[in-house]
Amino acid sequence: MAAEIGGNKKACVIGGTGFVASVLIKLLLEKGYAVNTTVRDPDNQKRVSHLNELQQLGVLKIFRADLTDESSFDAPIAGCVFVFHVATPINFASEDPENDMIKPAMQGVLNVIRACARAKAVKRLVWTSSTAAVSINNLQGTGLVMDEKNWTDVEFLTSVKPPDWGYPASKTLAEKAAWRFAEENDVDLITVIPTLLAGRSLTQDVPSSVCLAMSLLTGNEFLINGLKDMQMLSGSIFITHVEDACRAHIFVAENESASGRYICCAANTCLPELAEFLNKRYPRYKVPTDFGDFPSKGKLILSSDKLINEGFTYKYSIESIYDQSVEYFKEKGLLQV
Ligand SMILES: NC(=O)c1ccc[n+]([C@@H]2O[C@H](COP(=O)([O-])OP(=O)(O)OC[C@H]3O[C@@H](n4cnc5c(N)ncnc54)[C@H](OP(=O)(O)O)[C@@H]3O)[C@@H](O)[C@H]2O)c1
Repeated sequence: MAAEIGGNKKACVIGGTGFVASVLIKLLLEKGYAVNTTVRDPDNQKRVSHLNELQQLGVLKIFRADLTDESSFDAPIAGCVFVFHVATPINFASEDPENDMIKPAMQGVLNVIRACARAKAVKRLVWTSSTAAVSINNLQGTGLVMDEKNWTDVEFLTSVKPPDWGYPASKTLAEKAAWRFAEENDVDLITVIPTLLAGRSLTQDVPSSVCLAMSLLTGNEFLINGLKDMQMLSGSIFITHVEDACRAHIFVAENESASGRYICCAANTCLPELAEFLNKRYPRYKVPTDFGDFPSKGKLILSSDKLINEGFTYKYSIESIYDQSVEYFKEKGLLQV
């Protein structure tokens, strides 16, 4: 099934309250799409106020839907040519990742994909995965290169249970479930695999991923330890601008010949390298650069060649990702002006 859209420029974005989804909605509206978005609680003004502002850019309708309720997706998906399933249950503090993240993520993707299979107009479903579904394993060494063929080792995660294991397990198992269903039911599915995302958010709250990416500059020890855990678990630190991740979603939706998984990774780095870079570029924030015997090199790099070879270009380099994030944090009062 090719994603020929003809004159239909209507898309559904699932999870409009989120960091990524709201930027995606903005880009779709700017491209002339009419957008239906789903949120769990349309009456929560704090969570939807940015969507009300986006309504000035074009036709944006807000629907109530929950990943655990299959029937809630029929109305927002009706008449849409593309469905972008961005929402996912995220709860890093959970003591029960199985029930808080893994089961609802798997149930959610199956509920959405079944609704897409039923809907007449839907040509393509784009599901937001994560590099957490690609690079986590117990391989040793440095210089490994990974691409879309690689999958996170869920057996390793569920047996060793390293910190924050529930999120990568949920993303990997949900993506695998989506592929199984799509292949068996002839649904045109594409998955986009973004890295840790930074840049400016449209939401009222500052997203936790941007706080994590900015932790060396803000000096938040808890989050710097989070970056260390990320390097140890994922093998390296991978960073992309949120807008490029959203542009990649639209690119694969509109590109008829696109198929399969797409890693979207603008920069491969590791904690000590990132700290050196930030310390040089923003000397006033006195970024620490001595990490004792913490590994000075990442274990692997993630290849984004598939996306690039099909014609995608990144707009943001590591320098411009951080320049914008620094400005954003200054505006939010999270960094000294
Ligand atoms: N941010 C990153 O660095 C990053 C990196 C790689 C991949 N990703 C992926 O990108 C996607 C978006 O992430 P994000 O950073 O934008 O996260 P976010 O801001 O926390 O958004 C998550 C969204 O999921 C929704 N959600 C959670 N449980 C739900 C449920 N049961 N039913 C319906 N909606 C539900 C939330 O809605 P409520 O407002 O109702 O809670 C929220 O809109 C996720 O799939 C994530 O895995 C993100």
